[in-house]
Amino acid sequence: MTIIVTGGAGFIGSNFIFYMLKTHPDYRIICIDKLTYAGNLSTLKPVMDNPNFRFVKADICDREAIYKLFEEEKPDIVVNFAAESHVDRSIEDPEIFLRTNILGTQVLMDACRKYGITRYHQVSTDEVYGDLPLDRPDLFFTEDTPIHTSSPYSSSKAGADLLVMAYYRTYGLPVTISRCSNNYGPYHFPEKLIPLMIANALADKPLPVYGEGLNVRDWLYVEDHCRAIDMIIHNGRVGEVYNVGGHNEMRNIDIVKLICKELGKPESLIVHVEDRKGHDMRYAIDPTKIHNELGWLPETKFADGIKKTIKWYLENKEWWETIISGEYQQYYEKMYGNRAEV
Ligand code: NAD
Ligand code: TYD
Repeated sequence: MTIIVTGGAGFIGSNFIFYMLKTHPDYRIICIDKLTYAGNLSTLKPVMDNPNFRFVKADICDREAIYKLFEEEKPDIVVNFAAESHVDRSIEDPEIFLRTNILGTQVLMDACRKYGITRYHQVSTDEVYGDLPLDRPDLFFTEDTPIHTSSPYSSSKAGADLLVMAYYRTYGLPVTISRCSNNYGPYHFPEKLIPLMIANALADKPLPVYGEGLNVRDWLYVEDHCRAIDMIIHNGRVGEVYNVGGHNEMRNIDIVKLICKELGKPESLIVHVEDRKGHDMRYAIDPTKIHNELGWLPETKFADGIKKTIKWYLENKEWWETIISGEYQQYYEKMYGNRAEV
């Protein structure tokens, strides 16, 4: 079995590669990654010498490079993680989101059609469903919830999902889609909420909470997401969407307070800053379908997962300190430098 994993130098893709090489030691995994600001080759160091692993630096939009690789490797399965993934960046500059997330998906699926595969899996997000109101805790996203996006990021992911379903219906490409809630865990890029707050708290820097911090996200430990994808690519029904989430809703402010507590830092570091434009209020997944059809359930409780994650950031300072000492400094200044306190 040969699997192409795109975006494998990023957060979830790298965790998926580790998971697959551990769980299926006879599989060959080929990682394609453009190594954008979010991709980090040092992340893949633990598997670089594994004879069943190959890294290829390429842009999923580069048709020639992608076709050449498919011709060489003749993959059975393609799992597409490669994406621009940060909502705040998409608000600043949407174009690259449309290019990578939609056109890149098209190139990969064209390659799948040309060379033949048994499964193309699209890693999507619950953000394609838009958001839910805070005063309706009885509502959850199901696979039938209409697509209703808020940000350029979620719109580009929704566009890709529609294209994936069109390739299924029009060309019969054997596709599946997973729509997962917010992940957390090792190798999470420091621009995102949890690692940003850990890094800032450790440096006694302000912890910038957007608005009141009442927005709710449904957090899932990254390895639980990886296991769900493994189940879907092997046993999921072709042409189907599977929601992935662990019923673990938390308000942003409570997460930040928890991080302060775990690190022994004062809550006085928290500053409430200007809200994100179009900020989604609440995400909440109903995972009944993947549970009933594939037997998936999350294994890591948030209380344990967040401790493990904080421990990982404490023990792997070199990984994230290298990142935040580079071009990230300019990013941080641009996004947070002039952000008014509220
Ligand atoms: P990430 O930003 O950490 O990693 C993205 C990776 O894709 C990076 O290694 C980057 O170099 C690579 N990449 C970007 N553009 C590329 C291109 N044109 N060609 C090849 N490689 C390219 O993202 P992540 O958080 O690991 O998310 C992975 C996928 O999971 C994304 O598709 C995202 O939409 C989806 N997702 C993420 C979450 C989450 O909580 N992080 C939740 C649900 C779904
Ligand atoms: P993020 O990690 O960017 O994920 P997403 O927007 O895809 O859910 O943000 C998670 C939540 O945290 C979101 O409601 C925005 C909020 N947030 C802050 O309050 N401050 C920050 O500095 C960041 C990065 C996010």
